Amino acid sequence: MSQYSVSPTGERFQLPGTEDYSIEFEHLKRLALEQRDLGREIVVVMGLGFVGAVMAAVVADTENKEGKPTKFVIGMQRPSSRSYWKTPLLNRGISPVSSEDPEVSSIINRCANEKKTLTATYTYDALKLADVIVVDVQCDYLKESLGNVREGRADMAALEESLEIIGRNIDPHALVLIETTVAPGTTEQVAYPIIKKMFLKRGLRNDPLVAHSFERVMPGENYVSSIRDFWRVCSGVNEEATRRVVKFLNEVINTEKFPLTVLDRPIESETTKIVENSFRATLLAFLDEWSLFAERNGVDLLKVIQAIKVRPTHSNIIFPGPGIGGYCLPKDGGLGLWAYRHIHGFEDDIFKITPLAININDTRSLHVAQLTRDALRNMGRPIASAEILVLGASYREDVGDTRYSGSELIVRRLTEMGAELRIHDPYVLHWWEFEKQDEYPASSHSLKRFFRGQEKLKDLRVEQNLEKALHGIDSILFAVRHKHYLDLHPDEVVRNAGGPLAVIDCFGILDDAKIKRYFELGCEVKGLGRGHVKRIKDQVRAEREQPNKLNELNKLK
Ligand SMILES: NC(=O)c1ccc[n+]([C@@H]2O[C@H](COP(=O)([O-])OP(=O)(O)OC[C@H]3O[C@@H](n4cnc5c(N)ncnc54)[C@H](O)[C@@H]3O)[C@@H](O)[C@H]2O)c1
Repeated sequence: MSQYSVSPTGERFQLPGTEDYSIEFEHLKRLALEQRDLGREIVVVMGLGFVGAVMAAVVADTENKEGKPTKFVIGMQRPSSRSYWKTPLLNRGISPVSSEDPEVSSIINRCANEKKTLTATYTYDALKLADVIVVDVQCDYLKESLGNVREGRADMAALEESLEIIGRNIDPHALVLIETTVAPGTTEQVAYPIIKKMFLKRGLRNDPLVAHSFERVMPGENYVSSIRDFWRVCSGVNEEATRRVVKFLNEVINTEKFPLTVLDRPIESETTKIVENSFRATLLAFLDEWSLFAERNGVDLLKVIQAIKVRPTHSNIIFPGPGIGGYCLPKDGGLGLWAYRHIHGFEDDIFKITPLAININDTRSLHVAQLTRDALRNMGRPIASAEILVLGASYREDVGDTRYSGSELIVRRLTEMGAELRIHDPYVLHWWEFEKQDEYPASSHSLKRFFRGQEKLKDLRVEQNLEKALHGIDSILFAVRHKHYLDLHPDEVVRNAGGPLAVIDCFGILDDAKIKRYFELGCEVKGLGRGHVKRIKDQVRAEREQPNKLNELNKLK
């Protein structure tokens, strides 16, 4: 195993050695003692990922009515070579997660360096000092095949390991708040028994105080606010756990403006999360078939959606881009299916819509490769060895989060078909899904395994200079609605590309005037759900032929 952990910017950190642990714990004990003297509660946040790092800062920023901090937070991150770097960075007041929200950097810097209410550590001994433990480790859903969520399973390893460590170390009166999105039933039927067993091994007869309250955090410009200033749902395994979780959330979250919903049992809080994300996934999947209908029957799905949206009852209808992506929507429904059988022991199969929606969303982007192939073919160019530029690597507009983005599948399928890919994204410096495809998102879990000929994608780098990226391309794919792409003018694209090209609109980015202009410039245009482009093409052709007809008539005179 490597002795170093390397941060995304390339800084190397030596992993702690055996002798470091006792020194680190002594340091934390001293800090905790000082902080308790100041009347502050000690909160350990376990897992400093996308959610945990920012949640830790939100808790550390908590103040009472007199403006005095009331919590001291110890962020706890396991010291693996993959993740250890997050600990020293956070201790310097630098966010381990990059975000478009400037408040992420400022709140972490403020709490770590000015208020001194936030520190980070690698030792599990920190748990011994906690009044509250917030669990923000991952619980993935591993899919065995592409487009069939039923062939998969919840990966409980990190969560179960964390819970055992918690049970081994915590004060029995501490509150354990699980924020991880889990398979419904986990808090009562997995977490509680694991901690209880560990307590018994320690000779403790206490009832563990375990609660669940999931995160609704949204990447983007309001990242911090989406944790702090947003509605929360919670529930505890017993009365005391519920009382404690309500008290804690009322202290750290803006529940005055965004009141808490307290449910009777944790399975209800867990199910709320899974149902709300499955609902959203279903809404998106629903339009996939109508998108194909639109393409084949001269309909612009975008205009159809705008026409429907005016009805207040239908205002949340959404145009699905090239796949859905993000960390949550592709996996959360799977956790529900898995729980039904593997936690609750049912043999029958009650789920139809939830898995279907995920399967549709997981494969929707593959259709983009077909559109690209057809557009190039119409221009007499083969897809093999065509130079194709994908605009946007992330899963949604104006964020740098690339997890399970539709663009990844587009790149993989087109590569399989022999094309040469380029990528531009103003928010993404490294597309780890490719650069580190043998180990990211975890070893042997890369989507690479579903495609052939993927080795060269290790060398794919995200181009930041759009002009350079455009140079000499055969095709351009508008994959994400980043603001940088909305006003890109066809003349500029064609000029920089050096001639006509195949233009694929995956996200309703081009208006009719731009589509028309691309055709006038000799390009071919296709788009997901945009069947009306053929009409625009015919119109441009007719306008082109019109002067010729006039000339012929003049000659006959
Ligand atoms: N990212 C989002 O946008 C989002 C939104 C809502 C909910 N969630 C949910 O929040 C949870 C966390 O997601 P995330 O995006 O922060 O995941 P992540 O993978 O970014 O972070 C998890 C962190 O936990 C650490 N970890 C694992 N085991 C550990 C252990 N034993 N001790 C200490 N640290 C450990 C990992 O090294 C990693 O740093 C998930 O359940 C996710 O579904 C995420």
